[in-house]
Amino acid sequence: MSFKITYSVLDADMTEIHKAFDTSLQSVRGNLGNTFPYWTQGKAQESGSFLENYNPAKTDELLAKFHQTPVSEIDAIMNFAEQAYKKWRLTPWKERCAIFEKAADLISERRMEISAIMALETGKNRMESLGDVEESADLFRWNAKQLHENNGYTRSMGNLSPNEKTTDTLKPYGVFVVISPFNFPMALAAGMGSGAMLGGNTVVFKPSQETPWSALKLFEVLKDAGLPEGVLQLVYGSGSELGKGLTGHPKTAGVAFTGSYEVGMQIQRQLAAGPHPKPCMLEMGGKNPTIIRPSADLDKAITGCFKSAFGLTGQKCSALSRVYVHSSLKDKFIQGLVEKMKGINIGDPTDKDVYVGPLISETAVKTHLNAIELAKKDGKILAGGEDIRSKSEFAKGYFVQPTLAELPKDHRLFRDELFTPFLVVAVVDSMEEAVAECNKANLGLTGGIFSTDKKEIQYFWDHMETGVLYANRESGATTGAWPGVNPFCGWKGSGGSGRGICGPYYTARFMQEQSHTLME
Ligand code: UN1
Repeated sequence: MSFKITYSVLDADMTEIHKAFDTSLQSVRGNLGNTFPYWTQGKAQESGSFLENYNPAKTDELLAKFHQTPVSEIDAIMNFAEQAYKKWRLTPWKERCAIFEKAADLISERRMEISAIMALETGKNRMESLGDVEESADLFRWNAKQLHENNGYTRSMGNLSPNEKTTDTLKPYGVFVVISPFNFPMALAAGMGSGAMLGGNTVVFKPSQETPWSALKLFEVLKDAGLPEGVLQLVYGSGSELGKGLTGHPKTAGVAFTGSYEVGMQIQRQLAAGPHPKPCMLEMGGKNPTIIRPSADLDKAITGCFKSAFGLTGQKCSALSRVYVHSSLKDKFIQGLVEKMKGINIGDPTDKDVYVGPLISETAVKTHLNAIELAKKDGKILAGGEDIRSKSEFAKGYFVQPTLAELPKDHRLFRDELFTPFLVVAVVDSMEEAVAECNKANLGLTGGIFSTDKKEIQYFWDHMETGVLYANRESGATTGAWPGVNPFCGWKGSGGSGRGICGPYYTARFMQEQSHTLME
């Protein structure tokens, strides 16, 4: 294979990849229904209370069962993490990097098995699953590279007298709680977790309840790469009990969370109520827009919008959910997109030709169907809009039809994040108004523009209140950020941490500064 698997692979010969994926899928499918432990205090643990993991494409198919971590164990887990921290913080940064670099290679080696598991438990199609797995490996490499490039974050400073010598250094905080979402079950956990651990912190990792298996694969890779006991502990349980108990624990030094705005803000408030400020790194979704200008290459715009709105069934915080199109292109844009949507292959995401898999849950299906009803009432459905579960092939999973609707610009479907494949479109003629509309949302994660006018693109860069901007990106108008390529930093309600994953300042965010001034 002579190319790299990313989310942006458009045209490449995938024959070998599909063959290898099918072989792994078959072997994973032959091993369903097993029971797995959680990993704390240096051991595989069993509690006898189970988290059952079902396939969202076939909701009666039990993939595996996972022992849940009792809330009563939190104190012991935090104590263990604190003990491990005493050693890990003093482990030379080059040794920490070497473990993560080795783990990255193990992820790449195991990518077929891991992506087959991921496709089954998340409902992600096979290419998106492979992209997630490879992104995880690159996040390990990229986060380690930041330490190499900055000499482990130790540097000499100036002096005020000849006998004075000051060194500045970044040091870890302690025990980090890392909480990751279902949609990128490896990449987001790998990014947050490696940032924390490379920085010298120890981590208690609570993945989404929907994706315990991918999380276990990530844990195994790090264990096999030689991560010392206790540096990472993997726990399973609900956010409202286990998650809250961990983030509110007195021994928690910081939290990294990716997920909903509501939960992120709750964590922020919970930490703020503590005895002193603690780092709280949040990435909380998006309501991401794309602007289409008269000079746009329409084919590119249609493909870019299609991929970003409907890839991973709209369940990316980077997903495109609103389009502001110039009146001169409106009809052609809608016509082209509607045409492309007719060809969408919806179905079992492990099938080679399926692009759109199921949503993750019944609740998500309801959100989508409610939005359809609202759009029918207040606007016009242009494509999709049916409840496809009445068809026998879709009856067994959380399947929905990708939908395009035209609505007034001030409608709440232009503001509220749905996390489903639902795209709204409105006409906006001036560049200024288009950007102003984009900025009306409380969220500011990603945004796109299709224009060949350099001045317009500059205006877009200058005025968008959004962390990740793309111009003329056919492989994804608003999605597909990659480590070391597209820093991914949520503004406003999408984050507020000021520096993003995939960017050059990420690992440093998990460290606090200390200066040493020595008088000789
Ligand atoms: C997310 O959407 O939850 O840029 C994270 C992207 C991916 C990950 C986004 N790298 O689309």
